[in-house]
Amino acid sequence: MTQRFLALSTVAVVLMALSACRGPEGPQGPSGESTVVNLEGFAPGINCGNCHNPDIDTTYYVWAVKYQWAQAGHVTGGTFDDRNTAPCSGCHTSEGFVQRAKAGFPPQSLPAVWSVVTNQYRPSPVGCFACHSPHSKGDFSRRTEASVVLWSPMEGISDQTINLGKGNICLNCHQPRSSGFTPKMKTTAGATDTLKITTNRWYPHYGVQGLMFLGAGKGGGFEFPGKAYVNSPHSTQSGITQSGCPTCHMAQPVSGGNGGHTNVIGYPSGTTTAYNTNGCRQSGCHATMNVDTYVGTSGTLTGGMGAHKYVHEYLDTLATLLQAKGILSSSGLVQANNGTSSASSSSPRTFVGPAGLRKAGALYNYFFIEHDKSGGIHNPQYAIQLLNDSIEEMRKP
Ligand code: HEC
Ligand code: HEC
Ligand code: HEC
Ligand code: HEC
Ligand code: HEC
Repeated sequence: MTQRFLALSTVAVVLMALSACRGPEGPQGPSGESTVVNLEGFAPGINCGNCHNPDIDTTYYVWAVKYQWAQAGHVTGGTFDDRNTAPCSGCHTSEGFVQRAKAGFPPQSLPAVWSVVTNQYRPSPVGCFACHSPHSKGDFSRRTEASVVLWSPMEGISDQTINLGKGNICLNCHQPRSSGFTPKMKTTAGATDTLKITTNRWYPHYGVQGLMFLGAGKGGGFEFPGKAYVNSPHSTQSGITQSGCPTCHMAQPVSGGNGGHTNVIGYPSGTTTAYNTNGCRQSGCHATMNVDTYVGTSGTLTGGMGAHKYVHEYLDTLATLLQAKGILSSSGLVQANNGTSSASSSSPRTFVGPAGLRKAGALYNYFFIEHDKSGGIHNPQYAIQLLNDSIEEMRKP
């Protein structure tokens, strides 16, 4: 009782301190940095002790969640520290993300984002206050669950709206983005049409998972003419369309397992990798499985190898083929026509006509499947077909 009283009076003092800095305009910080602009206030009648509890609370398990979160890629990846300038900070830091959220998530096109996101030189990693707003809401509901518009990296295919319920919070960052000077991939080319790649980082950044789930015909991969593309049941499975990424990435830990806010599926366990497949094994999905040896409905597509292993191994094959033709450098960047690893506006990598476009498509698919990072698991049927067709293309002269 005494302890609880002490804890509550501590937060009360903090509350007063916080209220004191809540002015109409917060003090002016050094230029380009934010001060208390993100303070969102407290919900009326909020009970601090519900979450700030001296013991482990069994309502929210805040203490436990905090330590799960500390192991997440959001923290351990470390990019929150060095990708801290605008507009990168809008996805790589909590502070920049809250700025985007408060402005209603303007499109990723540069002018719109620049006007709301500032440099964050002392940022924190994507944390509780990015995905939730526990003080202003008084609970751990998501900051937003609104559907998200994904910028289309494919000429001729419009921006796509995706709705994965609770997972929409993730898609506000795990989404493709234009770097402004990168040409879009084309769906078709006439005999003399060219595609000039003017950057060695010719891909729509790293968050392509949403496009991978949407799959066929939605502008994720380059679909080779004359081939048919289908999606895995993951694209339409009702659990995934309601809960999205957390369905698999936030499955609760069980005895001897990892999970929850670590967001991790594969994690090191001794000298091997263990997998938290509780999400995959939930009722109505895969009865018994291990991601590493997974041979599901896509088994026939991989000769029984399993999608995860197949995609990892054949991505290496595709990289080797692209390197042999001087399209990809050994460090994984697009090579210029002069053979350097720095395609640029003065020495672009130029692909000509329908045959050239197919080679560019194979390069594009390499980055798409690689940056999706799931080893094809997000949409095995689609990823495997794109990979096979890209390899077939690169084996042609
Ligand atoms: C719905 C849950 C919830 C409630 C209710 C809540 N907080 Fe928090 N608060 C959090 C979480 C989560 C954090 C971040 C994790 C942590 O530091 O424990 C946090 C962090 C803080 C921090 C630390 C900020 C820092 O810089 O480290 C302070 C101070 C704070 N809360 C004060 C309060 C006060 C005062 C109240 C009551 C008026 C309150 N909180 C009510 C969830 C809550
Ligand atoms: C505020 C933006 C933001 C939100 C929201 C967000 N992420 Fe991330 N996520 C990132 C960034 C940035 C990285 C890379 C961090 C790094 O490497 O430093 C990342 C990394 C990850 C990683 C680790 C990837 C790896 O290669 O290790 C996983 C897994 C992940 N996110 C899943 C999720 C899930 C699931 C959600 C929703 C519950 C989510 N993210 C929400 C920005 C975000
Ligand atoms: C729209 C949100 C968004 C913006 C804006 C953004 N990033 Fe990212 N970035 C991500 C996400 C999400 C990941 C991690 C994706 C994953 O692991 O699947 C990531 C990953 C990265 C990585 C790879 C980390 C690794 O080693 O795997 C680098 C490097 C990076 N971002 C740099 C930048 C830079 C530089 C900028 C600004 C010019 C920027 N990002 C802007 C969302 C964003
Ligand atoms: C990358 C986004 C993200 C971050 C960061 C994050 N959460 Fe969550 N959190 C979620 C999502 C999504 C869910 C819903 C998961 C589900 O239902 O499967 C959730 C659920 C929760 C729940 C359960 C809520 C309920 O009502 O059942 C709690 C408690 C919680 N988070 C606390 C925290 C705390 C504390 C932190 C910081 C240490 C944190 N979260 C950081 C996305 C995030
Ligand atoms: C059907 C289950 C499932 C869903 C839903 C899902 N993922 Fe995954 N994801 C996986 C699996 C399996 C892996 C591979 C894990 C491994 O290889 O360690 C993975 C890997 C990843 C990785 C790389 C993580 C790492 O540690 O290297 C990221 C980032 C990621 N997913 C983001 C997302 C995002 C964002 C969403 C929502 C749009 C999402 N995932 C939805 C199953 C899923």
